[in-house]
Amino acid sequence: MNRKKITKILNKKGKTPITCLTAYSKSVTEIVDKYCDIILVGDSLGMVLYGMKTTREVSLSTMILHTKTVKKFAKKSLVVCDMPFKTYSNKFEAYKNAKKIISASKCDAVKLEGGKRIAKTVKYLTTKGVPVMGHVGLLPQYAKNFKFVGKSLDQKKKIYEDAIALSNSGAFAIVIECTVESLARKITNNVPIPTIGIGASKHCDGQILVTDDIIGLSDFRSRFVKKYFNVKKFIQKSVKKYCNDVKERKFPSSLHVYKF
Ligand code: KIV
Repeated sequence: MNRKKITKILNKKGKTPITCLTAYSKSVTEIVDKYCDIILVGDSLGMVLYGMKTTREVSLSTMILHTKTVKKFAKKSLVVCDMPFKTYSNKFEAYKNAKKIISASKCDAVKLEGGKRIAKTVKYLTTKGVPVMGHVGLLPQYAKNFKFVGKSLDQKKKIYEDAIALSNSGAFAIVIECTVESLARKITNNVPIPTIGIGASKHCDGQILVTDDIIGLSDFRSRFVKKYFNVKKFIQKSVKKYCNDVKERKFPSSLHVYKF
């Protein structure tokens, strides 16, 4: 855990946009770490890496395993681990599991989904010294689909109050997912901690996306994702070439053989 890194993130609010991406492995961590302020080991790994239908199936041991690797290879970024579904049902369970995650992986913080409902838990964790990142708006662990939220006045009010509750409970940052621009702006302007948007407009202090989505490795399509590359195509090309080479006995060539 590194308090200095958290202070650095806090100091960026209103000044410099905070850059965040997900990573689950050594190779992606090494790349993302060079450019990002925060690396999230998101429970999105359940769907992205393991083909699960929802993030609800992800276990604590899986999150610890991936977070250990990410933390080992992240030299400068703040590493945050998502607490899996049903591992923070009450404050005692949350503390026990957050401690497990942090002591096993040495990560810098944990992220929990929810607002007012989990405010007491967040307060308990932060009082005991566990750095917490909040997550409001669309909550993948609870949502039935990935439609944007905050259309009605009631929804807007609820999400706003959720963000305020998290901030008052000691969270050091809040992810705002898939909601309308005006609401993201209102939250960002009214909480003293950084807001990190995903599908929540530029009116946030930082942005996060799933790395596999921006490089075209996942199948996830959404209005809020910008695809910068199509890595899948390049992998396909390489695999096809390799298989052809093997079939045509072009690989291995003399270059790939040990001689003595
Ligand atoms: O699980 C995840 O990757 C997330 C996002 C905010 C990207 O929670």
